[in-house]
Amino acid sequence: MAPTAVNGTNGSRDHRAVLERTATPPSRHMSLEEARTTLRLALPEPGSKFSQDDEWCVVAEPDGTWREYRFHDYDKIFRMPGLYEKIFYDVLGCDSPRFMVGLLNEALATAGVPAETLRVLDLGAGNGIMAEELAAVGVAHTVGVDILVEAKEAAERDRPDLYADYHVADFTRLPAPQRETLLAHRLDTLTVVAALGFGDIPPAAFRTAYDLIAPDGWVVMTIKDAFLEATDTSGFAGMIGESIRSGALEVVRRERFQHRLATDRTPLLYEGIVARKRGPLAG
Ligand SMILES: C[S@@+](CC[C@H](N)C(=O)[O-])C[C@H]1O[C@@H](n2cnc3c(N)ncnc32)[C@H](O)[C@@H]1O
Repeated sequence: MAPTAVNGTNGSRDHRAVLERTATPPSRHMSLEEARTTLRLALPEPGSKFSQDDEWCVVAEPDGTWREYRFHDYDKIFRMPGLYEKIFYDVLGCDSPRFMVGLLNEALATAGVPAETLRVLDLGAGNGIMAEELAAVGVAHTVGVDILVEAKEAAERDRPDLYADYHVADFTRLPAPQRETLLAHRLDTLTVVAALGFGDIPPAAFRTAYDLIAPDGWVVMTIKDAFLEATDTSGFAGMIGESIRSGALEVVRRERFQHRLATDRTPLLYEGIVARKRGPLAG
């Protein structure tokens, strides 16, 4: 299957270009923006459709060859500066962190809560894009958590000093000392953006994070609508859907929005939810 070369700046427009043999991958001395500009990648043909678990692209390597990256191989993607931003933001038009922080900020304004007072747990933090958006609206204390050491290293490399603390942890079996350290941060807000389901964060890990948040705290999440439907088998519908119905999760804002484009250029629609924690999760 022949890929389509892309060197775009916005996934909502068609930026197909001719592959160039002179493509030069980013060096460690480049800024993040330079690296994003320099990287060259190619997507599968627009007619080919993949599930979100199987999406891929190819990227120009230093020796001029093209290497395949599966989108869920975050460890490999984070190792190359700018590649995550290039694939998901520049080419596929992801805007979820900015969109969700905007919803949160509006909800805070309505509730009369200054963003500066929040103490955020950012689950599935990746290379720090959420922390950057949160800092932009005044949040001063964000703790990152990711299952990959490559995510933490990328956050420190690309967006240093944004997290008050960053833990590499598997929240399905959080060690007691790490749990105590996280509790000491007196967290009152959970953000989980572009990270629930699809082989990423499972319901049990979400529950662990939720339980670390103070009563009446804020919960900010994006989730594919199918995970909240009656036909869902992932466990999210029972846990989150039921908690919304019971009022344990009090929804303050809920918007269906375009998370990003799929590689076949169709929109991937997610639910964006800002809620208050009024009780324990169902299930
Ligand atoms: C698509 S990225 C989103 C990163 C970030 N939230 C953003 O919006 O830019 C998904 C992140 O979730 C992380 N992740 C996947 N499974 C996880 C788990 N079980 N626990 C914590 N993080 C996980 C991945 O390593 C990856 O960094």
